[in-house]
Amino acid sequence: MKVVTLNQPGGLDNLMLEDADAPGEPRAGEMRVRLHASSLNFHDYGVVAGMMPTEDGRIPMSDGAGVVEAVGEEVSEFAVGDAVVSTFFPPWLEGPARLGNFATTPGDGVDGYAREQVIRPATWFTHQPRGYSHEQAATLTTAGLTAWRALVVDGGLKAGDTVLVLGTGGVSIFALQFARLMGARVIATSSSDAKLERLAVMGAESTINYQTEPDWGRKVKALTDGQGVDHVVEVGGPGTLPQSIDAVRIGGHISLIGVLTGREGEIPTAKLMAKQARLQGLIVGSRRHQQEMIRAIEAGGLEPIIDRSFALEEIVEAFRHQESGRHFGKICLSF
Ligand SMILES: NC(=O)c1ccc[n+]([C@@H]2O[C@H](COP(=O)([O-])OP(=O)(O)OC[C@H]3O[C@@H](n4cnc5c(N)ncnc54)[C@H](OP(=O)(O)O)[C@@H]3O)[C@@H](O)[C@H]2O)c1
Repeated sequence: MKVVTLNQPGGLDNLMLEDADAPGEPRAGEMRVRLHASSLNFHDYGVVAGMMPTEDGRIPMSDGAGVVEAVGEEVSEFAVGDAVVSTFFPPWLEGPARLGNFATTPGDGVDGYAREQVIRPATWFTHQPRGYSHEQAATLTTAGLTAWRALVVDGGLKAGDTVLVLGTGGVSIFALQFARLMGARVIATSSSDAKLERLAVMGAESTINYQTEPDWGRKVKALTDGQGVDHVVEVGGPGTLPQSIDAVRIGGHISLIGVLTGREGEIPTAKLMAKQARLQGLIVGSRRHQQEMIRAIEAGGLEPIIDRSFALEEIVEAFRHQESGRHFGKICLSF
């Protein structure tokens, strides 16, 4: 089977496509999955680019989707032929968050899914939404679930709420889609006017170019009759958080998700206090959250936005495409 490994110190030139032995038969509680797709996240880029050092020879990619080929004894949830998708935190099945690092995350602390076959405990996967392609399903593990948790699990999103999403990457486009699915209004930003047009077509009520409008927080406030939004899906981090604090309503909710503008910085804490806003960090979600998200997708209908797909052999080109920032939504690997 084909497998991609990453030699340390990382960097796209250290991604190697190799032939490896097939993985054998699953033991009790395990299953063998023929993987057909993965999707690229900023986190995967951090690992392969060498910004997040990992073990030499690590198989990258957190997201994996495919078909069950064989099940071991005691596996009752899945049968041969089922379409499945991986989870981001395999040990976090349900309940409150307990994991604050990536030691158990496929493609980082443990081997991931840039490979054709894998044997893993059955609980490392859930069923895919009915009718999804493997590529579509592979977008859910990280980006889909993060947006879902931010808005629905932690945010308690309800119809009529207003949501602000930043930029047009994987998490933000899912956040726009879940917000629309749940009957919320969306304000969206991008650095590209062409992408802003696409956001409007997808249902964003107002759009703002964050480069030509650096004071976008006040603009968002103006667009909401001076009130501010109920939820901000904050993927930028320190460079955008001050504007997000301007944009949120008194008593609103900011999901602190991303590091696109860096890992630390100055935050106007007094303003945040005056806003009495809830600022909550989060990392993806549990297996139970993923199952609930998939139930909602099946009930409401949601099609992930896939910008472009690449073959496994083209993994470097795929990451170069992500690096260029030209994408809108998700980039996939299909194999
Ligand atoms: N905490 C978690 O659980 C979790 C999970 C997934 C991702 N993340 C984090 O969330 C962030 C986004 O991840 P992703 O996978 O969605 O990334 P991605 O698909 O690579 O998205 C990149 C996009 O972000 C936008 N962007 C870049 N700088 C921006 C800025 N200053 N203001 C607003 N938008 C900006 C750009 O959109 P335009 O081209 O439209 O300007 C760019 O295309 C990353 O920091 C990632 O590490 C966190």
